[in-house]
Amino acid sequence: MPRLRDSRFATDCTVTFDGHAVPARSGESVASALLAAERLVVSRSSKYHRPRGPFCLSGSCGSCLVRVDGEPNRRACRTPCRDGMTVESQNAWPDASHDLLGVIDPLTPHGLDVHHMFTSPLTVNRALVTFTRRLAGFGRMPDRPAPAGPPVTPECFDALVLGAGPAGLAAAEVLAAEGKRVLLVDRDLLPGGRLRTGLEPGAAPPSWPAGVLRAVTAAGGEFALGTTATGIWRDGGSPVCLLVSDDPPRTRLVRAARIVACTGGHARPPTFEGNDLPGIHSGRALALALAEHGVLPGRHVAVLGAGPEAAALSARFAAAGLDATQVRGAVTLARGRSRVRSLLLADGTSIPCDVVAQGEPPAPGPDLLRALGVGVDWDPDIEAFAPRVAPDGTTSVPGLLAAGEVARPVSAAEAVAWGRRAGEAARG
Ligand code: FES
Repeated sequence: MPRLRDSRFATDCTVTFDGHAVPARSGESVASALLAAERLVVSRSSKYHRPRGPFCLSGSCGSCLVRVDGEPNRRACRTPCRDGMTVESQNAWPDASHDLLGVIDPLTPHGLDVHHMFTSPLTVNRALVTFTRRLAGFGRMPDRPAPAGPPVTPECFDALVLGAGPAGLAAAEVLAAEGKRVLLVDRDLLPGGRLRTGLEPGAAPPSWPAGVLRAVTAAGGEFALGTTATGIWRDGGSPVCLLVSDDPPRTRLVRAARIVACTGGHARPPTFEGNDLPGIHSGRALALALAEHGVLPGRHVAVLGAGPEAAALSARFAAAGLDATQVRGAVTLARGRSRVRSLLLADGTSIPCDVVAQGEPPAPGPDLLRALGVGVDWDPDIEAFAPRVAPDGTTSVPGLLAAGEVARPVSAAEAVAWGRRAGEAARG
């Protein structure tokens, strides 16, 4: 039962994956539809041809690259399904599920050092270089040239809020209440971010995100969903941000006196041997796929982590009818060939599973902040680099603020409070 039998999650279109029909829901991501169809292997790694499947389901890990309608290296987790879409696995022959080049991995248990193997004689070296070039790389060239992008339109707002999760919504709400003309942006098609998982129901009422969007437009601002901030730089006085959306194609160059970055963190893969096996996913992303599309990519789920998010995930999966186990000991190995089949703990215990949900909080995602010069420090408590962001959201860069998990792991309720403080600091 990879998708809940519920009329709310009925499929309404079909995409093909490596020639097989996959039922899907219009607008859900290709990765979500493939998980629901239990097609977990979508590509192969570029050198050893290890199986690759979606991990983060949010565009930050790059393990879900596929060819879509002749265009290579599309992220399956960021590509919405459309009836008749043709999706192909890549970096594999004949396809990712049965990749003959996959023998490279078990045949080279100590690695494949192409810089020192067969450096002579010359003919053997050339043959090896030709072969290794076939192993490497990402996909084939596109079937046709990319269409010309839309013209760039320059625009000005009082404030630009990047991210419509709990922190960004709170910041935008405060600024709109002050009468500021705000542009609120999120790359997802729905606002709410992690609130949409329902894992922290007390953080905000379900109607709050839509209410904030209304408040933003009532104050003369705008919200842009399905829009990605692809660049940010300083041009003269205030920062400038490049925003790109696909549907309809639009490129906007936005200048704002204040930019509040609430873009969230990056799901981090667990650290044990075999952590790249398909079937190991961000728990938060799985919860979202379950809540919005009824996707259950397995039957026995092992939830990693000891915090409240891991406990909430276990409860959520158990309530959906899965056999959920919260793993508390140290994991040393994930076993399986084309998908995870069990976890081995340091004490020798083996936990059978066909899905692993990473329940540890994400690492900070300070990419945009760093592009403008915000410093980062190694934080041993969260074992990650964290940007220097003050409790009121200010940074060392004038006009640039941040709040929420872009800076450090916080609960959704804490993100709301931090976003409010950042909104208040950005009002001046
Ligand atoms: S980028 Fe698609 S699953 Fe991570």
